[in-house]
Amino acid sequence: MKHKVAVIPGDGIGPEVIREGVKVLRTVAEVTPGLELKFVEFPYGAEHYLNTKELVPEDGLKELSKMSAIYLGALGDPRVPTGVLEQGILLKLRFYFEQYVNLRPVKLYPGVPCPLVGKGPEHVNFYVVRENTEDFYVAIGGRARGKSRAELEVMRSIYRAKFGLDIEVDQDEIAYQIGVISRKGAERVIRYAFELARKKGKKRVTSVDKANVLTHVYGLWREVFEQVAKEYPEIETEFSFVDAVAMWFVKNPEWYQVVVVPNMFGDIITDLGAIIQGGMGLAPGGNINPEWVSMFEPIHGSAPKHAGKNRANPLATILAGQMLLEHLGEQKAADLVERAVIEVLREGKVRTYDLGGEAGTSDVGDAVAAKVKELS
Ligand code: IPM
Ligand code: MN
Repeated sequence: MKHKVAVIPGDGIGPEVIREGVKVLRTVAEVTPGLELKFVEFPYGAEHYLNTKELVPEDGLKELSKMSAIYLGALGDPRVPTGVLEQGILLKLRFYFEQYVNLRPVKLYPGVPCPLVGKGPEHVNFYVVRENTEDFYVAIGGRARGKSRAELEVMRSIYRAKFGLDIEVDQDEIAYQIGVISRKGAERVIRYAFELARKKGKKRVTSVDKANVLTHVYGLWREVFEQVAKEYPEIETEFSFVDAVAMWFVKNPEWYQVVVVPNMFGDIITDLGAIIQGGMGLAPGGNINPEWVSMFEPIHGSAPKHAGKNRANPLATILAGQMLLEHLGEQKAADLVERAVIEVLREGKVRTYDLGGEAGTSDVGDAVAAKVKELS
């Protein structure tokens, strides 16, 4: 099949790791009969923003919507105030394309050092399905400062009427931020988690929340989870609080098979997931809308202090490329990438500093590409 892949290298180490990712994808396409990949690069990121004041323009979104998938490096740059690029590009794309699933496999490969004592690849192999468009990411909130008593009282009544909040506004300054869970939003991502469990032969789905404190949003989440679970009687289910999960990921990672979690907690527990699979250098993610343009990226950030040094580990990005292929229905090609990564890791000769080696970013890309050829 022929696919058009948008490439957004982005900031910091983004361009270096995405170069290796594209290298591997090109090689896979070369050796896979019938697979054709056309890459179209987009300039969005700090440099483009500083030069043009543009984040992602309307016509850019239009162009991107003609693509089969997006392959993203990383966003964030010390020259731009924190949040501008993240919200204006990364979150913008996730929301615009309604990529409501953030799929983050947590898989420890043989030969990769794991910080958990006594745990190996047989213990760390599960999926986190993070909701990706709601919760505390909806950007509803505000600040109030230095208003007159009368104005503050008006605001208080607005908060009460609109959000059911009773905020003590008789202060110098307050800030608030609202989390939103919708029935439809919860249902589609929870259903995706159960379908994934079925497809991957997993027997248990764990729902993670903090319904003992944030009763409104996660009360609804739990209700929907219970309802959807009924359609999958062969799959075992459980509810866990996020604080407990933070402990159990470390203590008993082998318990987990598929974890479905609202956006914010999903963000946090997938960094934990990354470190138990060997570090941020190995953790890929997919921002998925099963019916529209999806976007694949390493879950690490732009790591400005490592940028331009040919030092960063490109394996997370290469594995994001594997997920991209799988999403496009190119299962054989996807498997080939994973087998090549596993082989390179197993041999242990070409590794970046984070895995105890001295190889550069491009050496790892070359090694995986060569392995793809060898295994094909
Ligand atoms: C991630 C990142 C983003 C998030 C940031 C950069 C907005 O941490 O993809 O996990 O919070 O989702
Ligand atoms: Mn994160």
